[in-house]
Amino acid sequence: MRRTRAGEGRDETSAIPEKEKHTCLLRMAHILSYLVVFAAGLMIGLTTTSQFNGGFVSQRDRYSFINFQPSSNNCTLSLKQPLPLPSLDHQDQFPCMDIHNFVHPTELIHSMSDTELFWRASLVPNKQEYPYKRKPKVAFMFLTRGPLPMLPLWERFFFGHSNFFNIYVHAPPGYHLDVSNSSAFYRRQIPSQAVSWGTVALADAERRLLANALLDFSNERFVLLSESCIPVYNFPTVYRYLIDSFHSFVESYDDPSRYGRGRYSRSMLPDIQLRHWRKGSQWFELSRVLAVYIVSDTRYYTLFRKYCKPACYPDEHYIQTFLNMFHGNLNSNRTVTWVDWSQGGPHPATYGRANITVNFLQAIRNNGTLCRYNSDMTSICFLFARKFDRTALEPLLDLASQVMNF
Ligand SMILES: *[C@@H]1O[C@H](CO)[C@@H](O)[C@H](O)[C@H]1NC(C)=O
Ligand SMILES: *[C@@H]1O[C@H](CO)[C@@H](O)[C@H](O)[C@H]1NC(C)=O
Ligand SMILES: *[C@@H]1O[C@H](CO)[C@@H](O)[C@H](O)[C@H]1NC(C)=O
Ligand SMILES: *[C@@H]1O[C@H](CO)[C@@H](O)[C@H](O)[C@H]1NC(C)=O
Ligand SMILES: *[C@@H]1O[C@H](CO)[C@@H](O)[C@H](O)[C@H]1NC(C)=O
Repeated sequence: MRRTRAGEGRDETSAIPEKEKHTCLLRMAHILSYLVVFAAGLMIGLTTTSQFNGGFVSQRDRYSFINFQPSSNNCTLSLKQPLPLPSLDHQDQFPCMDIHNFVHPTELIHSMSDTELFWRASLVPNKQEYPYKRKPKVAFMFLTRGPLPMLPLWERFFFGHSNFFNIYVHAPPGYHLDVSNSSAFYRRQIPSQAVSWGTVALADAERRLLANALLDFSNERFVLLSESCIPVYNFPTVYRYLIDSFHSFVESYDDPSRYGRGRYSRSMLPDIQLRHWRKGSQWFELSRVLAVYIVSDTRYYTLFRKYCKPACYPDEHYIQTFLNMFHGNLNSNRTVTWVDWSQGGPHPATYGRANITVNFLQAIRNNGTLCRYNSDMTSICFLFARKFDRTALEPLLDLASQVMNF
């Protein structure tokens, strides 16, 4: 269809009347003569200038009178010969396009709205090879209500591996995470918005974290964590486990009860049907490919925003259902964040000082069950655990090197 149209177009142009063709040729001759005169003028001008300067201007200098010296975040435009351009000073400096800052933004603060940010984060290179040596990193995304009581444990976990991860912190607006400039968390807060737990604002914050982390092209895996999460394996183990996995770790299952299917709304028809509906833990781990799909989705997210209101919780259903509908084969359907629901009730168990023992930690690391990993089975099912309160920090620091090797 399209090809025919283009063909028709070409026929039309060739059907220009003879008279018009003639006018065209005349006009072209005019333009050519102008060009010749202009070039001659330019030559004369250049010759006189170099004579006027009284010096010999080499071919190289003549064509390099503007010199670009790209540096980390600016370009220096140095003029060897003053040009009659008023806006260019002898040493004019300006921010320049720079591949490094584009693929690895060092500054997390920006002025983009969520709409702008999600669009920017949805950009995917079409080219297979990178023009630089890309080392895949893990983005650790902390969704917090303020302070990070487990920070010293995380610092120890991250120590010595700075080339393999990036941290992103979404704290309440106005909250300043006060850490020293040697901390892995230093200046890692992203522009945030208020979050009320259980509402769509929570899912917004998760997508905001993903989008900010996507701006860095080195990030390959994306883990969502809270202030009450701890790592239960050391960094190299966590890194290899995530980077080498064919699947993402988003718990996603069909719960026929009123806490699962009961939260589905028929207003989501026809796009989302009851058979698509899934439930799962909010604490996900995603590959870059899936993270891009999630920040790029408007259609399904809009339905959740409109029709998934308490007692429906978007953070427990949106990503879980969306992946099930379109990318189920890329998901393991299990979570790598351990939590204890065994005591019942709306909240999982919280562990404090008295509960932290070698046996307890070992049981989280390996409870005797095997989990599917790529085409094999592994005794490592969980890399992280929650929930831990601040009194758990000290015994955890004491046991970390003995039990968790960091
Ligand atoms: C820009 O780069 C030049 C050359 O590397 C450097 O001397 C200058 O301090 C830089 N300016 C800024 C503002 O970073
Ligand atoms: C970090 O902070 C210390 C003390 O506040 C200061 O002396 C040092 O210059 C800072 N280092 C960097 C890289 O900013
Ligand atoms: C996860 O569930 C999807 C259905 O959403 C299924 O296609 C996929 O095979 C499951 N993943 C694994 C690793 O079993
Ligand atoms: C933690 O330890 C305390 C004191 O021994 C105990 O009462 C509580 O049940 C334990 N919590 C959990 C979740 O096991
Ligand atoms: C070990 O963890 C798995 C996954 O959460 C769970 O299904 C299983 O019941 C646990 N086994 C024991 C012995 O606690």
